[in-house]
Amino acid sequence: MKHKIIVTGGCGYIGSHTVIALMENDFEVIILDDLSNSNEQILDRITKITGRKPEFVKVDLKDLDHVHNVFGHFRDADAVIHFAAHKAVSESVQEPLKYYQNNLYSLINTLISQQENGIHNIIFSSSATVYGNPDTLPITEKNKTQRPFSPYGNTKKIAEEILEDVVLVSPDFSAISLRYFNPIGAHESGQIGEFPNGIPNNLMPYITQTAAGVREKLMVFGNDYPTKDGTPIRDYIHVVDLAEAHVLALKRLLNKEQESQLEIFNLGTGDGYSVLEVIQSFESVTGSKLNFEITGRRDGDVPKLFASTDLAKEKLGWSANRKLDEMISSSWKWEQNLREELI
Ligand code: WQD
Repeated sequence: MKHKIIVTGGCGYIGSHTVIALMENDFEVIILDDLSNSNEQILDRITKITGRKPEFVKVDLKDLDHVHNVFGHFRDADAVIHFAAHKAVSESVQEPLKYYQNNLYSLINTLISQQENGIHNIIFSSSATVYGNPDTLPITEKNKTQRPFSPYGNTKKIAEEILEDVVLVSPDFSAISLRYFNPIGAHESGQIGEFPNGIPNNLMPYITQTAAGVREKLMVFGNDYPTKDGTPIRDYIHVVDLAEAHVLALKRLLNKEQESQLEIFNLGTGDGYSVLEVIQSFESVTGSKLNFEITGRRDGDVPKLFASTDLAKEKLGWSANRKLDEMISSSWKWEQNLREELI
């Protein structure tokens, strides 16, 4: 009997890659997505890659009645993996209530519906942004969380606190929160990848769109940080490595191996690369010169963020395998495929 997993936000960037990893590991997947930052074509891509079409229900998770009704159809699900959230940092600063309402209502309604339908496990998509500007590096799960710089980041911190409170009063409920560092890259098929709405916030899609001629040039936000070349350092992790970690975390929950009702794991590579190093790697991987200009700092950016990967290695038996060059080449392949289709 296959385990059945509800994946909210499963048409999104990390969600779709995780759906593929789940299906390749013989899980049955039901995607719930409002398609606010994705489209149904992703389902065809997932089908093409895996040979099977995942079940899909279009649902706005802010609508509790609808969510409750949908979960009622999937009472036999074994777990939820909750990706559904808005994730554009700068937009969250401009529209905080949109982010608090969407990201927190979606989680709360999912948790209520899980409890009403006897679905006792959740994996939550969190972010290293909950660490703010870390006091020590590499960042371990014991690093204290700080008030994130953006409402987006704060929704992740508050969400984890909600999970803490829920498991305290629900002895049969278990949760794992996965704190992503900087997810980049795309599935090797070039069929799915990051597809930001409008102007990308994040470095990698901005780089590939600049190289594809969609953007005129990349602005490098500051080179006066206390780092080797003055540009900020981040722990970039391949989205497929990230997806594989979700499968291992899910198995940990289903096999009841967790050591507490809420476990938290960093998902990074443990390596940090500066913005200029990423640009240099992009140029050498693609053989193309990138048009960029050094400008002023971006509000909220911190000098260095990279993960300690010890806990995920020890408890999940997971570590990232894919290197920066593969992250970059897969991002570039996806961008080129995207442009060919859009023409
Ligand atoms: C990386 C570096 C920028 C764009 C955020 C969220 C995190 C997660 C990933 C959602 C920084 C520099 C960027 C550009 C640049 N979000 N940069 N020019 O800020 O580390 O993390 O995205 O899951 O939760 O906080 O990622 O890709 O935006 O920036 O110079 O046009 O690239 O200054 O140093 P970040 P990023």
